Amino acid sequence: MLTKQDNDLMCRTGQDTPMGQAMRRFWLPVMHLSDVPAAGGDPKEVELLGEHFVAWRDEQGCAGLFSAYCLHRGASMALARAEGDGLRCIYHGWKFAVDGAVLDTPNVADPKFRERIRGRTFPVREAGGLLWAYLGPRDAEPAFPHYPFMDEDDAHRINACAVANCNYVQVIEGLVDSSHLTVLHASGLARTNGVELDFAKKTTHMQFEASPLIEADETDFGFHYVAMRSAGDRRVARIASFIAPCFVANPNGDLWFAVVPVNDERCNFFHVWWNADKRIGEEPLRTQQLAFVGLDEPTLAKYGMTAATCEGPAAMDWRNGYRQDRDRQRAGHFTGFDSFTQEDAACSISSGAIRDRSQEMLSTADIAISRLYRSLLACARAVRDGQPLPALNVEVGRVVGTSAEIGMDEDWRGLVPHHNIVSSGARAARAQ
Ligand code: FES
Ligand SMILES: [Fe+2]
Repeated sequence: MLTKQDNDLMCRTGQDTPMGQAMRRFWLPVMHLSDVPAAGGDPKEVELLGEHFVAWRDEQGCAGLFSAYCLHRGASMALARAEGDGLRCIYHGWKFAVDGAVLDTPNVADPKFRERIRGRTFPVREAGGLLWAYLGPRDAEPAFPHYPFMDEDDAHRINACAVANCNYVQVIEGLVDSSHLTVLHASGLARTNGVELDFAKKTTHMQFEASPLIEADETDFGFHYVAMRSAGDRRVARIASFIAPCFVANPNGDLWFAVVPVNDERCNFFHVWWNADKRIGEEPLRTQQLAFVGLDEPTLAKYGMTAATCEGPAAMDWRNGYRQDRDRQRAGHFTGFDSFTQEDAACSISSGAIRDRSQEMLSTADIAISRLYRSLLACARAVRDGQPLPALNVEVGRVVGTSAEIGMDEDWRGLVPHHNIVSSGARAARAQ
């Protein structure tokens, strides 16, 4: 449970909010590289943390992210002309390079003027199929993170993004909440039996125990937690890692998430699978994987979970019953939704654009949820109080999600010996 004040502190990420400023101190994924305009193409407007930006590539292929509002008097750079080495605002013709250099100011003849000013652009990187940007103060730019999926080429990686019409924290909660899997995804997990996909093999055991033992530790990168389910005289330990401010390494070990606010009431839910040995990024494996979890384009569009459909009539909300199929449910499906992605989204969206956490009743099943609140609030409070930001500049390449069978008396932390534990605050508890 959180007070209204703490909930706002955690959830709001606009430019002038503590959490918004904390988020801007980290490198964040903006969009898929496949959605960035081609070299010299038309600029593309995107919303991120409640601000508008324009992504573009110059004729050399260098990517850039501009503030959407022209440095001069704020006309949108989404309207700008693509002119080889820069974008030219159509209002008075000021022209900017992707690195912020001002190339021309036709209504100010003195060339020294443009040499004294800089365009509003942000550092970007291309890695792991994603365009990343750093939106914070120039003198505080952190090292660029290196995740294992960044070492794989397109053939060995799947990138997918679902747009969810709710606050980002609600989506992250679902990613650190093992106990819902057995219930909400019961029908989806039943479909994993005998399916050859790696994802199916790694999740099929979760059909059988709705109250796993859960423990969580605070770490230097955020926290990790385990859900342990019995498997005869042994148990299966699934460890997920939350990496501040909005990343999760899934226990499957080959799946990574970023949940990036578009604004306070919408987020981009990026998924990355990678596999050095299999060409999962190619057909038919790519579509098989995406369709199995409901991340294929037609299914996302059916529920209004793409950038193009999230504001249209398809978008799930209370007026259309979240697009739940009651006939299908009556016929035996547990939820009446197409797959995992829609089931998760329906639960997240249906609790309100920004969930009221003064009205919840957390149980022993929710140890990781409490830990998530603490991690996020620590970031926001550090900024608010002028303290060093936790988890900044931590080397994240060693942070994993993982899953394995262990003995009944074996410590699950042995599976993640390279995680730096700050405190083992939460003790074992069986979800009630
Ligand atoms: S507003 Fe862009 S050049 Fe004037
Ligand atoms: Fe889920």
